[in-house]
Amino acid sequence: MSYEIAVIPGDGIGNEVVEAVEPLLLDVADAHGVGVETTWFDWGSQRYLDEGALMPDDGLDQLAEFDAILLGAVGHPEVPDHVTLRGLRLPITKGFNQHVCKRPTYLFEGVQSPLRGYEGGDIDFVVYRQNTEGEYADVGGREHQGFANEVAVQASVFTREGTEKLLRPAFEAASERRGKLTNVTKSNAQAHGMVFWDDMVEEVSEDYPDVEVERLLVDAASMDMVRRPDEFDVVVASNLFGDILTDIGGGISGSLGLAPSTNINPDGTYPSMFEPVHGSAFDIMGEGIANPLGMVLSGSLMFEHLDEDAVADALWHGVATQLADDDAPRTADIGGGATTEAVTDDLYDRLV
Ligand code: NAI
Ligand code: MG
Repeated sequence: MSYEIAVIPGDGIGNEVVEAVEPLLLDVADAHGVGVETTWFDWGSQRYLDEGALMPDDGLDQLAEFDAILLGAVGHPEVPDHVTLRGLRLPITKGFNQHVCKRPTYLFEGVQSPLRGYEGGDIDFVVYRQNTEGEYADVGGREHQGFANEVAVQASVFTREGTEKLLRPAFEAASERRGKLTNVTKSNAQAHGMVFWDDMVEEVSEDYPDVEVERLLVDAASMDMVRRPDEFDVVVASNLFGDILTDIGGGISGSLGLAPSTNINPDGTYPSMFEPVHGSAFDIMGEGIANPLGMVLSGSLMFEHLDEDAVADALWHGVATQLADDDAPRTADIGGGATTEAVTDDLYDRLV
């Protein structure tokens, strides 16, 4: 098989990790007889500063024909964050019905968790985050700005379709994994959208009698992710809660720089998008020290989605083997002093 992949490096370390990792993905695929052709798009904050938009008006049309999209990150010190996020990532996830944001949290052997007593493999769960609606729906407004009666409304939107399209793959995953699904909401305080969500979980769970469903409120879930992370298997959460919980996941598994992410169109009518969880990291951008492994693992998940399991496994195990090797270079976020390039080169030697 051969694939056409759209590559959007974006801003800051997004650029740095994509530039380092893209050739590795192509060559590992090639080594397994899988052809990949990439087309690069220079969309992002620099384009916004130069031309007034992060991507062109027909951006989605340009992307629609690709088999998948690889994204670095967006975010620029001179552009407000709500402009960057709403100018690129959200239009793609929403425009392509990428309802499912699947984010594994895995503590690799050789990586130190900030939590005491956990070793490689002890933390191993997957968050399924609703990715097209919820708290990130673009519904609301501001009026009377600057006056005493100034008002802002930000509505959360939950639909049967958007919720179910997230829950079914999550239940599937739970029944193939350890058979447990944790439903995280705040339905004590949000009695409309989140109680609807709970009802949907119950409805869908009837088709998966082998899956044990646990219910947690998001505040307790945040604590439990720190206190007993080994007891989570599959977690389902709304857009905002999933966003927050997966940064906790990145933190407890050693570094946000190791965390991969997927934005899946479950119907296959549009391309899905793969990106690391992290952003453009203003504090380290331009220094060449960003951890590229979250990007490599995102590439692995892209090949898994394309049913190229041999390539996906090679990339995942390459990262695992490198992290388990005391002598391998590692970036500062996981206790080393190596550059992005040195880590990628080492992986290259292991895999190609
Ligand atoms: P961030 O994820 O960029 O950084 C958080 C912290 O983690 C920083 O200390 C950073 O140095 C560290 N870090 C992140 N990735 C790393 C890597 N690969 N290697 C080593 N260290 C790493 O989040 P932050 O600082 O809140 O946001 C910076 C910008 O990125 C903002 O404009 C934000 O809106 C944007 N952002 C974009 C995302 C996306 O494009 N999907 C996701 C998250 C944030
Ligand atoms: Mg986030």
